[in-house]
Amino acid sequence: MATFSSRSTTLITLAVVLAVLSGAAEAQLSPNFYATSCPNLATIVRQGMAAAVQREPRMAASILRLFFHDCFVNGCDGSLLLDGTNSEKAAGPNANSARGFEVIDAIKTQVEASCRATVSCADILALATRDGVNLVGGPTWSVPLGRRDSRAAFQSLANANLPGPGSSLATLIRMFGNQGLNARDMTALSGAHTIGRSQCRFFRSRIYTETNINGTFATQRQQTCPRSGGDTNLAPLDVTTADAFDNAYYTNLLQQRGLFHSDQELFNGGSQDALVRTYSTNPVQFNADFVTAMIKMGNIMPAAGTTTEVRLNCRRPN
Ligand code: HEM
Repeated sequence: MATFSSRSTTLITLAVVLAVLSGAAEAQLSPNFYATSCPNLATIVRQGMAAAVQREPRMAASILRLFFHDCFVNGCDGSLLLDGTNSEKAAGPNANSARGFEVIDAIKTQVEASCRATVSCADILALATRDGVNLVGGPTWSVPLGRRDSRAAFQSLANANLPGPGSSLATLIRMFGNQGLNARDMTALSGAHTIGRSQCRFFRSRIYTETNINGTFATQRQQTCPRSGGDTNLAPLDVTTADAFDNAYYTNLLQQRGLFHSDQELFNGGSQDALVRTYSTNPVQFNADFVTAMIKMGNIMPAAGTTTEVRLNCRRPN
């Protein structure tokens, strides 16, 4: 009996160790995950983001985009933050585009000083995103925590999973659907384009060739985005209130002032028109749906079998 019980204890211990090592133990995320292990976490992240946004308001947008690009590639596992082999940073949608990595590094350094080897980079990114949005006027919410960091990056998945600015509505619905997000989630999450900047190369064809665009708006954008050259020149995604997180993205769409082809696809006679109208007149509904969809996106887990850990440096595996 004693032999049996000690052997079964050994087996259970082995199973737990294997599950933890492989990251297969997908525990439910919880807002209280670090309540005792890192009680100052929320304060540290908030202060780091407050400083970064004060230096440059656009940083709220840049960090929000990092979270999206992390979560759509093998779940929210900090894989986007890794330098080196197979890096996602070098994938098409991120190269010379994704930014804000130093801000996450700086916050991680502060977090490590307070609670060593405890908080994942993926969780820091999730919290920093929430704080950035809130600091520029958006809603706040309680962030489920307990994500773990992958040991590898997935460059080809980044190329495959992230939608481009020329995407059709059908493509957007399909690509978000592949991540377990429905069309309503997709339309609410696209409201993230109420903040931030884009390079000319991503909206040039829209402002020179498309017909479902406001003429004054197209002319305005053409002033700093020439037919050739100026690829990296910047324009605000939201022409109305560039640095404020509000529902102006949707009022812009109603006036055919979406910057990307993919933006205007949400209001072009298709299935999302009614929801865009709703968000344009009801900021409370938009904020509520945005938060719901952000939490849903933040719950996307790494594929079974992904090896995970709490990274000490967000740029490399331990
Ligand atoms: C629906 C499909 C989407 C497409 C096709 C798309 C595409 C793009 C592109 C091309 C840029 C400009 C990048 C550059 O100029 O370097 C951009 C910027 C941005 N995107 Fe999206 N995006 C999409 C959805 C999202 C989602 C779901 C979020 C977040 C929840 C998001 C957040 C942002 C933010 C905040 C920026 C500005 C970043 C900055 O200023 O640094 N996007 N997006």
